[in-house]
Amino acid sequence: MTSPKGLDRGLTNYGDRDFARFLRRSFARSTGLSPDLLSKPIVGIAMTPSGFNNCHRHMPDLVDAVSRGVLAAGALPMAFPTVSLGEVFLNPTSMMYRNLMAMDTEEMIQAQPMDAVVMIGGCDKTVPAQLMAAVSAGLPAIQLVTGPMSTGRHRGVRLGACTDCRGFWGKYRAGTVDAEEIATVEGRLSVTAGTCAVMGTASTMACIAETLGMSLPGTAAIPAVHSARLVAAEESGKAAVRLIANPITPTQIITRESVENAFRVLMALGGSTNAIIHLTAIAGRAGIRIPMERLNAISDETPVLVDLKPVGEGYMEDFFAAGGVGAVLRELRPLLHLDTIDVEGRTLRERLEEPLDWVDPAVIRPASNPVSPVGGLIALQGSLAPDGAIFKRAAATPALFETEGRAVVFEDLEDLSRRIDDPDLDVTATDVLVLKNAGPHAAGMPEAGYLPIPKKLAQAGVKDMVRVSDARMSGTAFGTIVLHVAPEAAAGGPLAAVRNGDRIRLSVAEKRIDLLVDEAEIRRRLADHRPPPKPVRGYKALYRREVTQAPDGCDFRFLMPDAD
Ligand code: FES
Ligand code: MG
Repeated sequence: MTSPKGLDRGLTNYGDRDFARFLRRSFARSTGLSPDLLSKPIVGIAMTPSGFNNCHRHMPDLVDAVSRGVLAAGALPMAFPTVSLGEVFLNPTSMMYRNLMAMDTEEMIQAQPMDAVVMIGGCDKTVPAQLMAAVSAGLPAIQLVTGPMSTGRHRGVRLGACTDCRGFWGKYRAGTVDAEEIATVEGRLSVTAGTCAVMGTASTMACIAETLGMSLPGTAAIPAVHSARLVAAEESGKAAVRLIANPITPTQIITRESVENAFRVLMALGGSTNAIIHLTAIAGRAGIRIPMERLNAISDETPVLVDLKPVGEGYMEDFFAAGGVGAVLRELRPLLHLDTIDVEGRTLRERLEEPLDWVDPAVIRPASNPVSPVGGLIALQGSLAPDGAIFKRAAATPALFETEGRAVVFEDLEDLSRRIDDPDLDVTATDVLVLKNAGPHAAGMPEAGYLPIPKKLAQAGVKDMVRVSDARMSGTAFGTIVLHVAPEAAAGGPLAAVRNGDRIRLSVAEKRIDLLVDEAEIRRRLADHRPPPKPVRGYKALYRREVTQAPDGCDFRFLMPDAD
């Protein structure tokens, strides 16, 4: 017996199945759709418009385009809303709500009658949330991204959110850009619909979705406002209908091999540190775990090929014009697993046999002439981070790669904002700035790891310092910054034991981050450690109780497949 399709799927049955079917159909008739259309298989469209999500401003156009693709291929499109996460509008941090969106999306895919789903996301946390949901929901699914913003112009120079936001703000803090100019720049950074214009978290996750095989080939980098993005949406709708006849589920696509390919691409992009957490969480939903040693091996073998901000010069519009993910995959071909399949059921080998019409080697370098011979991100370990930490070497200052310095400690986010610009702060350029209590338990893991250079040092011309925390940093940020220290301070990790004046040693060559304090003394200090108070109600209490540390992707324990 074949399982019911379309509106008959997942019908709740209280004993009279025909009545349940009659009831559902009579309600469906109130949509004004013809009985003919209502009898077709259904493609759900998980849409995420929100007044608080500027990156998804063009969602209605994308939903229309997916819908016409679905209709043209002979199925019925049914769009439904889920939680939407606009990066800069969420307090205390969007990271806290990724899992909420993943739960919402998974449950709505499963609870409503659909035979396949197209998920439309874009802003940083939305694509990982949708991919996590798709793996757990088990229904054929296609990821469509909203696409990157186009750049603005300021005095003849291109500007893109949000690496240039940081660059200009740094100059303003240092006094080289005045109040009038910064106010002008404010209106020239984010000028179209779409996600941040650089290789930040959103663009990195879009490229990862395509590499995994969950998006149609060639679609990750199409600018949000380009007509080709609407064509990609239409094609995604058609492809979803084909998936109903020939079902391929996300766990057939997201395998150890495709996850390793995605980590390779992440390295070659010089992509966002956040993508490590998200890809770990997505893979974790499929029961796949890539150990830190493997991550470092992949990084050491994979060159950075893509010359985009924040690591290099270009913007996502250049990456698109240069050949996008397809060009990167072709350069990485000898390093990739080629038997992985995508949502069209094609192997990566088959995809890469097709020629690309144009590649711009200035933006996507050939493997023989990389931006850097080794990958953009590495994991560190050591007495300060026994379970690991992440370091974006591609966006750091090589002169600081081997540093031993004095710790200047901030106890939490409030302490940081209160004292960082204090003219009396005892700090020099060779110190190591340490932020505690900004990890998943303490604060939901905000992007606070990009600690500002203390104002008095910035004004003296200091551009970079070693900074260490259990927080994340924006994918659009740069600097010699050690992130995701695990266990976090609030969970009693050694980070909690650091005191002003302690010595900290960073060695990128050895992939280590160490607190140069006697082990017994660290233990003694930690014995007195008191974690911050727990939230007592609602989602925040659930989050605090269930969230895992960064090396496990900050997913909820009960959503992971080996959960009890
Ligand atoms: Fe949405 Fe950057 S704020 S992608
Ligand atoms: Mg971001």
